[in-house]
Amino acid sequence: MKTILPLTMLLTCVALAASASDAPTPKTDPAAAAFKAKCASCHAKDATGSPAMAKMFKVKPETLNLVDTDTLAQKDEGLAKTIESGKGKMPAFTKEKLKDVSVKDLVAFVRSLAPAKAEAKP
Ligand code: HEC
Repeated sequence: MKTILPLTMLLTCVALAASASDAPTPKTDPAAAAFKAKCASCHAKDATGSPAMAKMFKVKPETLNLVDTDTLAQKDEGLAKTIESGKGKMPAFTKEKLKDVSVKDLVAFVRSLAPAKAEAKP
């Protein structure tokens, strides 16, 4: 009987350790996570824009599309400026607000969502 308690404690520790490593620490790109958390509400998960949000803001649905040719044709600096300073109904996302991800990474992430044919022309 004496050995039961330490054994139970050991098992509990093992279980706790296991559950800690199972905890949601997905190895996803921080930019992807940030986009999902901070941008997808307006721009949709795939960055094609949320039609409901476009309606609410009274803007054309294309305005919220970040993977259309118009948006992708812009230089990284231009897109970064819109993200950092905001534009129209687009809120500004300062470094403080973005915390664990850089604007540069977000721009790169948005570009990574782009359909191949819509990529910016050199
Ligand atoms: C509250 C809604 C909202 C959120 C949240 C939001 N945006 Fe926007 N975003 C907009 C709107 C509206 C525009 C269009 C602004 C305009 O042109 O008047 C826009 C425009 C943009 C543009 C410029 C597109 C172009 O064609 O010039 C980029 C890039 C962009 N957003 C990226 C982001 C990123 C990255 C995030 C997350 C960090 C984000 N947005 C979060 C509403 C939002």
